[in-house]
Amino acid sequence: MSTPRKIIIDTDPGQDDAVAILLALACPDELEVLGITCVAGNVPLALTQKNARIVCELAGKPEVRVFAGCDAPLKRKLVTAEHVHGKTGLDGPVLPDPVMQLESQHAVDFIIETLRAEPSGTVTLCPLGPLTNVAKAFDQAPDIAARVQEIVLMGGGYFEGGNITPTAEFNIYVDPDAAKIVFEAGAPIVVMPLDVTHKALVTKPRNDAFRALGTPVGLAVAEMTDFFERFDKEKYGSSGAPLHDPCVTAYLLKPELFTGRHINVEIETVSELTLGMTVADWWRVTERKPNATFIGDVDADGFFALLTERLARL
Ligand code: RIB
Ligand code: CA
Repeated sequence: MSTPRKIIIDTDPGQDDAVAILLALACPDELEVLGITCVAGNVPLALTQKNARIVCELAGKPEVRVFAGCDAPLKRKLVTAEHVHGKTGLDGPVLPDPVMQLESQHAVDFIIETLRAEPSGTVTLCPLGPLTNVAKAFDQAPDIAARVQEIVLMGGGYFEGGNITPTAEFNIYVDPDAAKIVFEAGAPIVVMPLDVTHKALVTKPRNDAFRALGTPVGLAVAEMTDFFERFDKEKYGSSGAPLHDPCVTAYLLKPELFTGRHINVEIETVSELTLGMTVADWWRVTERKPNATFIGDVDADGFFALLTERLARL
C-alpha cells in the first residue's frame, strides 16, 4: 500500500465543494488532507469557512484543520452565487452549526508554510473555488510554486462556454487576476472545466443511490443535490446537477476515468466582454507553450460508482 497523497483543498463550499471534500475525507488511505483553506466565492468567506467545518463534522472528521483565507478577489469586487447555492451556500439539508474551531492562521500563510515544510514535490493543491488564496501564496512566496507536486483545479470552460457570463466559468470569473497568476506559475496543472463537469450529472437514479446509502452523509448529499440541481436544470435543461468539484477529488483517486489534452490555457483579465475566459488552445492553433492538462471527458458511470462506493464509508 503506497502512502496517501498529501493534498490541500482550497474551497468555497458550495454543495459541490462539500461533496468533493466528503469524497476526500472518505479515502484516508489514498488522500491525506493536510488542511482545508477557505476562500470567498459561492458565498462570502464567513460562510465558506463555516460550511467547510460543517462538512468536516458531517464526515465525522472534526480533527481536520480548516483555515480562513481571502475574503475578496485580488483586484476586483467579490461576485457570489447565492442564486445557485442558496443563502447559506449549503442549502438543501439542515445541518448543525459547527463545534470544531477554525484555525487562527491565515490560509495563505498555511499554504506557504506547508509547501516549504513538506518535501518538494509531495503536496498537491486542489482549488475548488476562485484562485485568490493560491495566487496570493504564490505572489508572497515565489519559491513555493516549484515545490508543488500538482495543481488539480475545477475551473474554466472551452466547448461549454461559461456559466456566469457567456464566456466565463464562475471560479475563474470571480478572480481572473488570480487565475492568471496560477496558470503562469509553472506548476503542473490539471484543469476540470465545465466541458467535463457538465458530463458528471446527478440524474435521479444516481441521486437515489446516494439516498439509498441510508447514512447521514448519503441523505445530506442527496438533499444538497436536490437543491443545487434546479439552477442547471432551468438553465441548461440538463438531467441533473453537474458535480463540478468532485471531479477534482475523483481525478486524484482514479485518473483513468478522465481524458484530456496538454495544451496552452490563458486567462482573459482585461476585456469586460470576455473577462475570466479560459482561452484554451484545444486545437493547438497557436505556438503558445502548453501549460495545463485540460480535461474534456469522463466515464460518468465510473465516476458515480466511485463516488457512491466511497461515500458509503463515512
Ligand atoms: O462554476 C462552478 C464552480 O463555481 C464550482 O466550483 C462551484 O462550487 C462554484 O465555486
Ligand atoms: Ca466551488
